[in-house]
Amino acid sequence: MGWAKFITIVALVSLLGGTAGGSAACAGESGVPVPNPPKGKGEQCVRETSFMRANHMNLLLHQRDETMQKGIRTKKFSLKECVSCHAVPGKDGQPVSYEDPKNFCRSCHDYVAVKLDCFECHASKPPSKQAGAVPSHENRYRVSGVLPQ
Ligand code: HEC
Ligand code: HEC
Ligand code: HEC
Repeated sequence: MGWAKFITIVALVSLLGGTAGGSAACAGESGVPVPNPPKGKGEQCVRETSFMRANHMNLLLHQRDETMQKGIRTKKFSLKECVSCHAVPGKDGQPVSYEDPKNFCRSCHDYVAVKLDCFECHASKPPSKQAGAVPSHENRYRVSGVLPQ
């Protein structure tokens, strides 16, 4: 293969790589090289921290299936409880949403390039305490009125 073609391929590969990894690499670029999740509220998590680190996704997906398929609703591994204990304040002192790289869940996910669609429907931060506050785009609990408050 000629040099010109070789260089084009190298350039293309790095371009694609750069684009695909773009949003996931944000945290790294902004100077957070390793995940360092902020500490949650209270004494402990819903299970041991080491267990949570490795298995939180299974708990959540199981809880979701229980709710969606069997109609079982408990607070135990509810996403609402997670975001409430794991709220991280932003510059304004208000909890940040999943849009913000400081969000607890993103503190690791950006690093391992995990992308969640959960927060397109679920709130990624606790509801605002201000009475009468209008839920923002990224803070809605309801999907066509289905999700409970
Ligand atoms: C009652 C408050 C509370 C609730 C509810 C809660 N957590 Fe936690 N979580 C904590 C605390 C406290 C820790 C321990 C932090 C530490 O040891 O630094 C923790 C640790 C974790 C960790 C490990 C973080 C690390 O440092 O490695 C993960 C992941 C996690 N929680 C996810 C979740 C998920 C997912 C949910 C919902 C199913 C949830 N938590 C619900 C308080 C809570
Ligand atoms: C298209 C919208 C949508 C998406 C995306 C979505 N969910 Fe849900 N989720 C719902 C609805 C609707 C319910 C039912 C709530 C009910 O009936 O109580 C639900 C229920 C749940 C529940 C049980 C209720 C609770 O709050 O604990 C969990 C846990 C859950 N989802 C986790 C997840 C996780 C984790 C993801 C991402 C992997 C996700 N969901 C993505 C709409 C969605
Ligand atoms: C301590 C680091 C850490 C924290 C904090 C963390 N996660 Fe994760 N999460 C991971 C890792 C690592 C994976 C990927 C595991 C794998 O690929 O098998 C993952 C995967 C997931 C998945 C499965 C994604 C998929 O596509 O299968 C869900 C759902 C999830 N996390 C939800 C959450 C939620 C919600 C929070 C915040 C409440 C959170 N995680 C906080 C490390 C973390």
